[in-house]
Amino acid sequence: MQVNQPLSSASARSIRLRRIVLLAAIPLLLILAIAVALIERRQRTEFLQADADRILDDPRLAAKTLAKGRDIFLANCATCHGADGRGSTATGTPDLTDEDFLYGTGRASEIESIVLHGIRSGDDKGWDLAWMPAYGQPVPYAREKLPSLSPGEIEQLTSYLRAMNGTKGEDPTAVAAGNVLFEGRGGCWDCHGRDAQGDAAIGAPNLTDGKWLRGDGSRRDISRIIREGLHGVSPAFRGRLDPANVRAVAVYVSSLHARKDHE
Ligand code: HEC
Ligand code: HEC
Repeated sequence: MQVNQPLSSASARSIRLRRIVLLAAIPLLLILAIAVALIERRQRTEFLQADADRILDDPRLAAKTLAKGRDIFLANCATCHGADGRGSTATGTPDLTDEDFLYGTGRASEIESIVLHGIRSGDDKGWDLAWMPAYGQPVPYAREKLPSLSPGEIEQLTSYLRAMNGTKGEDPTAVAAGNVLFEGRGGCWDCHGRDAQGDAAIGAPNLTDGKWLRGDGSRRDISRIIREGLHGVSPAFRGRLDPANVRAVAVYVSSLHARKDHE
C-alpha cells in the first residue's frame, strides 16, 4: 500500500485554482452585502419620509406594508382591539374597522401619532384632552368644576340619550328633563356638543349613532357610564416599536375601514 503519494501536478493546480476563486469571492460577497444593506436603508428612509396617507396608493409598497402591519397588529394590538380589529364593548375598546372615530378621521398619519404617543398613556404628546366625568361621584371631574348628579337626574339623561338613539317608549317628561340637563347644568354639551354628536378634536364620542364604547346602549349600561365615567387608555409605542413598524401598523389600521372622503 502506498502512503504519502505526491500530488499530481494537475490536482495541485486545481487546488490552487479553488483557493483563488474562494479568495476572490470574499470581497465580492462583502460588496454584495453592503449593496443590499444600502438599498434596504434607502428604502427605509424613503418609507419614513413618504406621506403616510399616500402609501396605499403605491400597489407594491401597499402590499408589503399591509403584510408587515398586520403582523405587528397581531403581536401588539390584538390583545385589546381583537385580531379582527373590532374591539370589545366589554372592555371599552373601540372598533377600528368602522367609520366612527374618537380622534380625527381615520387617516394613517393620525393613527401613526396615536400608536406613537397613545391615548391617556402619560406620554406628553398623546391624546388626553378630556375624560368622561363620573357624575355619580361627589367630585365628578378633577380638571373642571362640574356638579354631581342625583340617580334620578342620571336616569333622565339616560332616557334622553336613549330617545336620541331611536329607542321608542321613553317617558317624554324624563326625556325633556334630560335634554335640559344635557344642554345646561350637566355641562354635557361642552364636550359632546349641543347636538350630542361629539367632538373628534377632543375624543368626545357621538352619543346619537347607536355605537357604544362600553356596553350595548341599554339603560343600565348608559347610566353606568354617566355615573362612573370613562377614560380608555391606548398605550404609547414610542421606544417600543421601530418607527418603520409604527408606520406599517398605522397604514394597516387605516386600511381596515373603508372611509375615503379624506383623500
Ligand atoms: C391595552 C389595550 C390596548 C392596546 C395594547 C392597544 N390599544 Fe388602541 N385603544 C385602546 C383603548 C381602550 C382605546 C380607546 C381610548 C379611548 O377611549 O379614548 C384605544 C384607541 C385606539 C385608537 C383610536 C380609535 C378611534 O376610534 O379613534 C386607535 C387608532 C388605536 N387604539 C390603535 C391601536 C394600535 C394600532 C395598537 C397597537 C400598536 C393599539 N391601539 C394597542 C386599547 C389598546
Ligand atoms: C369634560 C368633557 C365631557 C363632559 C363634560 C361629558 N363627557 Fe361624556 N364623554 C367624554 C369623553 C372624552 C368620552 C369618551 C371616554 C373614553 O373614550 O374613554 C365620553 C363618553 C360618554 C359616553 C359613552 C359614549 C359611547 O360612545 O360609548 C356617554 C354615554 C357620555 N359620555 C354621556 C355624557 C353625559 C350624559 C354628559 C353630561 C352629564 C357627559 N357625557 C359629559 C367627555 C365628556
